Amino acid sequence: MRVLSGIQPSGAFHIGNYFAMIKKMIEYQENQELFAFIANLHAMTSLPEGSVLGANTREAAAGFLALGLDPDKSVFWVQSDVLEVTELTWVLSNLTPMGLLERCHSYKDKVAKGIGANHGLFAYPVLMAADILLYQSDRVPVGKDQKQHLEVARDIAIKFNNDFGETFVVPEAEIDEDVAIIPGTDGQKMSKSYGNTIDIFCDKKTLKKQVMGIVTDSTPVEDPKDPDKCNLFAVAALFLSEDEKADLANRYREGGLMYGEVKKDLLERVWNFFAPFREERDALLEDQDRLRAILKKGADKARDVADKTIGEVRSRTGLRYWV
Ligand code: TRP
Repeated sequence: MRVLSGIQPSGAFHIGNYFAMIKKMIEYQENQELFAFIANLHAMTSLPEGSVLGANTREAAAGFLALGLDPDKSVFWVQSDVLEVTELTWVLSNLTPMGLLERCHSYKDKVAKGIGANHGLFAYPVLMAADILLYQSDRVPVGKDQKQHLEVARDIAIKFNNDFGETFVVPEAEIDEDVAIIPGTDGQKMSKSYGNTIDIFCDKKTLKKQVMGIVTDSTPVEDPKDPDKCNLFAVAALFLSEDEKADLANRYREGGLMYGEVKKDLLERVWNFFAPFREERDALLEDQDRLRAILKKGADKARDVADKTIGEVRSRTGLRYWV
C-alpha cells in the first residue's frame, strides 16, 4: 500500500507536528511504501519572503531526516523538485468547479481572519490533489483539518477518471480519531499561527520560555487538581510512560502539586527526548552537499512515478498532440 503525506515548512517543527504527523510517518516506513515530502509550494501561501521559505525548507528537510525518516526505506523529497506537480495542478484546475473550492473551510477561515485571499490560497486544495494523485497514493493520513481537502482530491480523481478514463487511484483518507489534538501552551491546538508552540529544535533558553509559559489554572497548591482538564498534563503525558502518567495523575488528585515542578521536569524531558535528533539535524544543515544529495536522490525516485502518471495524463487530455 502506498501511503503519502506532506508537511509544510511554514515554521520550525514543534511537538504537535511530531506527535500528530512525523512520528506516524516514521512508523509507516517500516511496513508500507511511504512517500513523504516537504510541501514548499503550499508554504508559499503563507511565506512570501524568499529567504525565509528557503531556510525553512532546508531546516524542515534536515529535521525530518534527523527525526528518523530513512531515505532508503521511503521516497522523501522537496515538492518543488518534481515540478510535474504544477503541471498536473493546471490540468486538474480545469475539472475543478469553483463551488468545490469556495466551500473549503480552510480557505473560508483564512478569508474570515482577514488574510488577503489570492489565487494560490484558493487553489491550494487543487495543488494538494495533484500531490496525491500524481503519486498514485492509496492512503493519505491527515488531521481532521485536512479531511475536506482529501474529499476534494477524491472528487477530482473520480471526475478525471470518468471524463478521460481510469488514470488515478482514488485515495482514501486516514483520519486517526485517536490522535488527540496536541494542545499548545495556551490550551488551543498547537499551531505556529497561534504562537503557542513548543519547538523541537530551538535552544534550551527558548524551550524553557515555552514550557514555563504553559498556561495552568489558579488552583491553590494544596488543593486537588484534575489532570484531565489540565493542558500541562496533556503535554507532559506525551513524554511519560503509562506508569509515570498514572503517577502524575495521582499527584494531581492528591493535592500539594506545584505546576512549576511539573514544568521543570517536562522541560528536561523534552530537551533530552530530542537531543540526539538535534545533533543529527545540525550536522545535516552544516553539510549542505550531503543534504542536497539525499534530496536529489529522493526527487529522482519520486519523479520516476510522477513521469508515468503525467505521461498518461498528457496522452488522455490531448496535451501530447502527436499520434
Ligand atoms: N495541506 C497539508 C497540511 O497543511 C500539507 C500537504 C500538502 C499535504 N500536500 C499534501 C498533506 C498532500 C497530505 C497530502 O497539513
